[in-house]
Amino acid sequence: MYLTPKYPKDSITTHTDFVLPGETNPLNNLFGGELLARIDKCCGITARRHTRRVCVTASVNHVAFSKPIPSGAVVTVVAKVSRAFNTSLEVIADITVEDRETGEIMNAGSAIYTFVAVNDMGTPVQIPEVVPETEDERQRFAAALRRKQLSLILAGRMKPHDATELKALFTE
Ligand SMILES: CC(C)(COP(=O)(O)OP(=O)(O)OC[C@H]1O[C@@H](n2cnc3c(N)ncnc32)[C@H](O)[C@@H]1OP(=O)(O)O)[C@@H](O)C(=O)NCCC(=O)NCCS
Repeated sequence: MYLTPKYPKDSITTHTDFVLPGETNPLNNLFGGELLARIDKCCGITARRHTRRVCVTASVNHVAFSKPIPSGAVVTVVAKVSRAFNTSLEVIADITVEDRETGEIMNAGSAIYTFVAVNDMGTPVQIPEVVPETEDERQRFAAALRRKQLSLILAGRMKPHDATELKALFTE
C-alpha cells in the first residue's frame, strides 16, 4: 500500500507549561517523572499526527536531563518525528526552559522514543515515510537507523552481528 510521505513539520508538537509546586522534587526542581509524562504525551501526539493511527510506545531509547528546572519555570517540549521505518517511527523531543527575566531559551534535555502504529487488534501497520528538510532533520534521519539497531539489540531482538549500520560507526 502506498502512503504519501510527510515532512517532520507536518506532525511537530509543542507543549509549554509552568512548573507548579506539586510537580517538584525536594530541591524544588521539576520532578523527572513529571517531565517524562509531558515528553511521552508530546511525542505520542507527534507519532499519531504522522501516522494517523493509534501508536504505542515500543521503547524509550534515550533521556537526558541536562539542567535542573526550578519551580515556576516555563518549560517547553518540542517533539518531531526523525524517521519512519515500516511500522515503527522514532520521535525526538527537545526540552527548553525560558529565563524569567531575560526570556533567553536554554536547552534542558532531550529524549528519543520509538513508537509502533497499530490497528484495532494491536497489530503493527505500515506508516508513511518521513522526508527530512533541514540539515538537522537530515542528520537525525541518518542516525536513526543506528539507534533502531541499538535499541533492538538491547531488547534482545537483534544480534549485534546483524547490526551493520551500528558496526559501521566503529569500523569506518
Ligand atoms: C510494540 C509492539 C506493538 C510490537 O509488536 P511486535 O509483535 O513485536 O511487532 P514487530 O516485531 O512486527 O515490530 C514492530 C516494529 O517495532 C519495532 N520494534 C519493536 N521493538 C522495538 C524496540 N525495542 N526498539 C526499536 N524498535 C522496536 C520493530 O523493529 C518493528 O519495526 P518496523 O516494522 O518499522 O521495522 C508490541 O510489543 C506491544 O504492543 N508492546 C506494548 C506497547 C505498549 O503497551 N506500550 C505502552 C507501555 S505503557
